[in-house]
Amino acid sequence: MTTPTSTTLAHVVESDGTAVLDVVAERREELRAQLVSQGALLLRGFDIGGVDGFDQVVRALAGEPLTYTERSSPRHAIKGRVYTSTDYPPEEEIFLHNENSYQAGWPLTLFFYCVTPPETLGATPLADIRTVYRELDPVVRGEFERRGWRLVRNFHPDFGTRWQDVFTTEDRDEVAEYCAANGIDVEWRGRDGLRTTAVRRAVHLRPGSDVPRWFNHATFFHVTTLPKDLREGLLAMFGEDELPANTFYGDGEPIPADVMDHLRTTYRAASTRFDYQRDDILVVDNMTAAHAREPFTGARRIAVAMAEAHKPEVTR
Ligand SMILES: [Fe+2]
Repeated sequence: MTTPTSTTLAHVVESDGTAVLDVVAERREELRAQLVSQGALLLRGFDIGGVDGFDQVVRALAGEPLTYTERSSPRHAIKGRVYTSTDYPPEEEIFLHNENSYQAGWPLTLFFYCVTPPETLGATPLADIRTVYRELDPVVRGEFERRGWRLVRNFHPDFGTRWQDVFTTEDRDEVAEYCAANGIDVEWRGRDGLRTTAVRRAVHLRPGSDVPRWFNHATFFHVTTLPKDLREGLLAMFGEDELPANTFYGDGEPIPADVMDHLRTTYRAASTRFDYQRDDILVVDNMTAAHAREPFTGARRIAVAMAEAHKPEVTR
């Protein structure tokens, strides 16, 4: 049998030679319970069998993988519904976030598969968002609970991600239809520009639990969370009003700099990390743990899949 070890980071399941699919089949309910209570599972030391084997583990634990829609980051499909992790410059950190928490719905379960480990750093740090909620200054928390948060995205025809790629269509009517169904206001601008605005709740409950979670992209998409060079470059190019993305309180008022600092500090204080080994599968409960990406060197290759779509009834 396998030997489970508990850490504060994730429930670790190490191979004793039993095939991974047999372990998942035998212990599915127990593993899913651990995933939800601890926020993550790490399957380590198994012979996964490449991307096809990974896809089978996803299906065995969480069912049919989801397609990646309303994109915020460049990824491409490796095979079927297994994607690359974000194609983002290796020297940059990707800040802690919960996948798609800026959308009206999101996956409950995320899978990361280490095809090739990085040489240095390159971990997927995790932060328990129940802890983030608890540790935030109640005044800051209360403000967001009352006002919600707002994401404004500006798509420019000749810069950055194109709206056609985000919404995976060339048809403006399809974009409008998708946005109307998902609580997003659209405004076509200039030659081929688009501004989208969405107001969401900052705090959510996970199905089956009444413990509140800090579940939003207010910190991730705020202009002050960007690395200094990038931030200054974007501000010089677009000014505050036309930034590719920025966040506000739900009513559109700016979030003060000290509040942003407090949010980032609280996330970081709650985060833990481990070094990837080849064939690791990290399973993350998206409504319990936020994830990030450290900068790295080397030919890091991490495949990603998402499963178990969830759409709460009230999002704003
Ligand atoms: Fe992510």
